[in-house]
Amino acid sequence: FGVRVFCLVVGYAFGMFQTAVLYGRLKGVDIRKVGSGNAGTTNTLRVLGTKAGFIVLFGDMIKCILAIFLTGFVFKQIFGSEVYASYNYFLKIYTAAGCVLGHDFPFFLKFKGGKGIAVTSGYIIATGTPFVLVGLLAFLVPFNITHYVSLGSLCLYTCFFIQLIVEGQTGICNMAINVMPQGVRIEMYVVAFLMTVLAFYQHRTNIQKLLSGNERKTYLFKKNKI
Ligand code: G3P
Repeated sequence: FGVRVFCLVVGYAFGMFQTAVLYGRLKGVDIRKVGSGNAGTTNTLRVLGTKAGFIVLFGDMIKCILAIFLTGFVFKQIFGSEVYASYNYFLKIYTAAGCVLGHDFPFFLKFKGGKGIAVTSGYIIATGTPFVLVGLLAFLVPFNITHYVSLGSLCLYTCFFIQLIVEGQTGICNMAINVMPQGVRIEMYVVAFLMTVLAFYQHRTNIQKLLSGNERKTYLFKKNKI
């Protein structure tokens, strides 16, 4: 129980580092008051340009990777490498869940943050499996065709959830997952499922707009409508 709380708390603390809000402030913009009002990569890109969007993307991915590194490091110091190998994925998903919560609901910004996609991408990268590529394609294909980031994000999230179950059940990408107790594995799927539900909930307005054909399009190489 303590390990779960530790991962969630560390993740939450890192997640609260609001790259979009801070970068926006640097440029004299309150990112939560312009465009879609979302404190994330996409809104920053549309409002402040492609370079700004990528800075926020990396900042939000890296905070999750750092949080995962820290919880893994502390766990290894306390329990040793062998136990760590069995619980590696478990720690990562709990830390990522904490990070998404801190990012989406930062308490010092009145719980108004982003939607957790870049943070989750950081988690996917931290797991380091070939599924990183699958996730990238799950995002890029729908995005390239439609220019709706939200659609790409939801495809990416669905892929993240499916990939975790495939990895957990087959162990094809990471042997550590094979030595993980079955109960822990199921718990991991539940956490990933809840994260996926949260991502869809955070995109509820985007989903409505996608369905009514009013969603904002996003372009990397031309000026975006805000
Ligand atoms: O990751 C956020 C993206 O999926 C949607 O952002 O600004 O279009 O609501 P936005």
